Amino acid sequence: MYNIALIPGDGIGPEIIREGKKVIEAASKIFSIDINWIEYPFGAEHYLKTGELLPDSALKEIKDMDAIYFGAVGDPRVKPGILEKGILLKARFYFDQYINLRPIKLYKGITCPLKGKKIEDINFYVVRENTEDFYIGVGGRFKARINQDHLEVLRKLYKAKIQVDFNLEQKEEIAYQIGLISRPGTQRVIKYAFELAKKKNLKRVTSVDKANVLTDIYGLWREVFKDVSTQYPDIKTEFNFVDAITMYFIQKPEWFKVVVTPNMFGDIITDLGAMIQGGLGIAVGGNINPEGVSMFEPIHGSAPDIAEKNIANPIATILAGAMMLDYLGEIKAAQAIENAVEKVLSEGKVRSHDLGGNSYTIEVGDEVVRKLREINIK
Ligand code: NAD
Ligand code: IPM
Ligand code: MN
Repeated sequence: MYNIALIPGDGIGPEIIREGKKVIEAASKIFSIDINWIEYPFGAEHYLKTGELLPDSALKEIKDMDAIYFGAVGDPRVKPGILEKGILLKARFYFDQYINLRPIKLYKGITCPLKGKKIEDINFYVVRENTEDFYIGVGGRFKARINQDHLEVLRKLYKAKIQVDFNLEQKEEIAYQIGLISRPGTQRVIKYAFELAKKKNLKRVTSVDKANVLTDIYGLWREVFKDVSTQYPDIKTEFNFVDAITMYFIQKPEWFKVVVTPNMFGDIITDLGAMIQGGLGIAVGGNINPEGVSMFEPIHGSAPDIAEKNIANPIATILAGAMMLDYLGEIKAAQAIENAVEKVLSEGKVRSHDLGGNSYTIEVGDEVVRKLREINIK
C-alpha cells in the first residue's frame, strides 16, 4: 500500500487534482494497486483562515509517506510569494527534492505552434536544479540606513550563514537577493542528468547558464559540469547561455536530448518548453529526491483567471500522476495512463479549451478513464 499526501491547493488546483486522482484510482483498480490518500487543506483559503502555510507537523507526517501529489498554489488575495515560498518551495527544500524533472514531449494530436515540427522533433528532458540558486530566499530591502542582515541557508548538504552589511549614503531604496550554488548541490543534479541520458540512451547533455555575466555562481556550475562529464565519455556535451537556448528551443528543438539547468533559468525555459509541446495544460514536473519523498505536479500555476469554471486542462496533472506511479515502481500502470492520454489527445473528440476544444475538465478526466479501461480490460 502507498500512502500519498494530496495537496490540491488553490485556483484550478482542486479541479485538476480531482481528475488526476480519479485516473490514478481507475489505474489502481486495473493493476491492483492500493493507495491511501491523505489530503491536506494547505493553500490560500486555509492561510487566510488560520495563518498557517505548511506546518512542521504536516511535514513530519509526510516524511513517512511514499509521495506527494500537488495541484498548484497562488491566489490574488495573498501577496505574491507567501504561498509559493511558504508551501511549494518549503516542501521542495524540506524534502531536499533536488531534481525538478520536466519532460518536454509533443503528443500526437496536439498542434505544435512551431511550423513544420513533428512529434519526433519535440521529445527531451529538462533537469532543473531545485534547491539553490536565486531561490534560496536570501535577500532584503531597505533605505537610508546602515543595514546588517544575518541570513542562513539550511540544507541537508550544508549550512551557510551569510552576513551582509550595507552602508547607504543616500536616501534611495535598495533591494538585493543572493543566489547561491554549492559544488555538491551542482554535482548531484548534473550527475542525475548524465545518468538519465545513459539510462535512456540519449547522446547529448546540454548545460544552461549565464556564465558570461554571473561569473561566480555559473563559473562554478560550468566547472562542475566539465568535471562530471568526464565520467561519461560516450555522451556529447555543450554549454548554452540561457538567452540563446530560448532561441534554440524554437529554432531546433529536435537538437535537445537532456538539458540541465540551474533553478531560475529552469523555471523560465520550461514554460517555453511547455508551449512548444502544446501549452501549460500538458507539461509535467517531478520534484524528485531519489532517496526521499518526491512530489509530482503540473508545472503550471493556479490559473486564477479560469478557476472554478471547470475548463482547466487536467492532462498535465494526470500525466504527473503517471510520473508518480512510475517513480513508485508501478511502471505498467504509469505507461497505461500515458497511453490512455495519448489516445484521448490523438482522437481529439474530447479536448479542453486551451487546446482549441470545448470539453470540460471533468469530461477530459472521464475520457482518460474510459480509454484506460478500454485499452486494459478486454
Ligand atoms: P499559471 O500557470 O497559473 O497561468 C498562466 C496561463 O496559463 C493562464 O492564462 C492560465 O489560465 C493558463 N493555464 C495554466 N494552467 C492551465 C490549465 N491546466 N489549463 C488551461 N489553461 C491553463 O501562471 P500565472 O498566471 O503566472 O500564475 C498564477 C498563480 O499561480 C500565481 O500566484 C503564481 O505564483 C502561481 N504559480 C504556482 C505554481 C505552482 O503551484 N506550482 C506554478 C506557477 C505559478
Ligand atoms: C514552477 C513555479 C514555481 C517555481 C513558483 C510558484 C515558486 O513557477 O513550479 O515552475 O518558480 O519553481
Ligand atoms: Mn514556473
